[in-house]
Amino acid sequence: EKQGFRHFMLKEIYEQPGVVRAFLEAYLDAADVINLGLPESLCKDVENIQIVACGTSWHASLVGKYLLEQVAGIPTSVQYSSEFRYAPPPLTANTLIIGVTQSGETADTLAALTMEKERRIGKSPAYQPRLLAITNRLDSSIASVAGQVIDTHAGIEIGVAATKTFIAQLLAFYLLALDLGARRQTLSEERLEEIVTGLRQLPAQIELILESQERYIQELTHQFTETQDFIFVGRGINFPIALEGALKLKEISYIHAEGYPAGELKHGPIALLDAKVPVVAIAMPGSVYEKAISNAQEAKARDSRLIGVVQMDDAHAEEIFDDLIPLPAVDELLSPILTAIPMQLLAYHIAARRGLDVDQPRNLAKSVTVE
Ligand code: F6R
Repeated sequence: EKQGFRHFMLKEIYEQPGVVRAFLEAYLDAADVINLGLPESLCKDVENIQIVACGTSWHASLVGKYLLEQVAGIPTSVQYSSEFRYAPPPLTANTLIIGVTQSGETADTLAALTMEKERRIGKSPAYQPRLLAITNRLDSSIASVAGQVIDTHAGIEIGVAATKTFIAQLLAFYLLALDLGARRQTLSEERLEEIVTGLRQLPAQIELILESQERYIQELTHQFTETQDFIFVGRGINFPIALEGALKLKEISYIHAEGYPAGELKHGPIALLDAKVPVVAIAMPGSVYEKAISNAQEAKARDSRLIGVVQMDDAHAEEIFDDLIPLPAVDELLSPILTAIPMQLLAYHIAARRGLDVDQPRNLAKSVTVE
């Protein structure tokens, strides 16, 4: 049931504070100890991590790569399942393989994980490959292939465009990176505490964004009734969120959209920019803030309408951006959980304004069980 919401997608966007609470409830105890239930045999001496996924799950995996490398210090590769299958990388010892799929039934991801399992067993039958699934369906095929599972606990998602399951996948990667980082002592107790405290603040922060920004974002979409192309840019841990913003918009509004790491604009995509092509730029405080701002300025010089996803108290941002979507202050590492929300709302309201079937976009299926 839609419970008064116009579409399931909007209902599911509003469920996200609860999804974050439920996830943390399940895996983080009152003393802030992480318990994903992963055995030492899976985690010990992992030398590298290979992630396979499609679509939105692939975007979550890119955030995962950032976290696993920067927090846990483990070299991590992310590949589209459909590409991985036909060009698997050379085998290395002690690889942790992670399949990320909310449905747990995506044919390419299932096949990639199965192939990798067999490839490793084939090399030495005594060898136990380290396989992990991140899925929203404990009863899914991926869960049985992998054996070890992080259940994302987001509840069934009905809207074809993934929203709450994406946020839950991100959380899975946060806790996985913190868990592995704690086991390897790659992060200090203080930093761990700081991140955990930040995680616990996320539900209220998402609520605040929904309360304070939804109406505004809906208003903003007035100016995009004729828009045919959108560019999304982000850097660092927010680059994948730019990709996700573009994918959401494409899927449900059928507007052409591209996501780029902001620093790549000048290597080609900037040629697309003019007054008809709005640019959504994620520019939250942190290690790449200055760079993100200067990239946004490059776009402004090409007359693009600039929409800034920025931190609330950013006095500087007003001079640069035409429209501002201000978010609560957050640790840079955790910012994707917040920056993803306006991406979803923007896509939703543009599509809803165009009168499109948001929950069942053309040509798309919720679960892609064919190759
Ligand atoms: C995006 C979307 C798709 C899926 C992709 C993978 O909104 O829904 O891109 O993310 O088909 O699906 P799962 O996660 O079920 O493997």
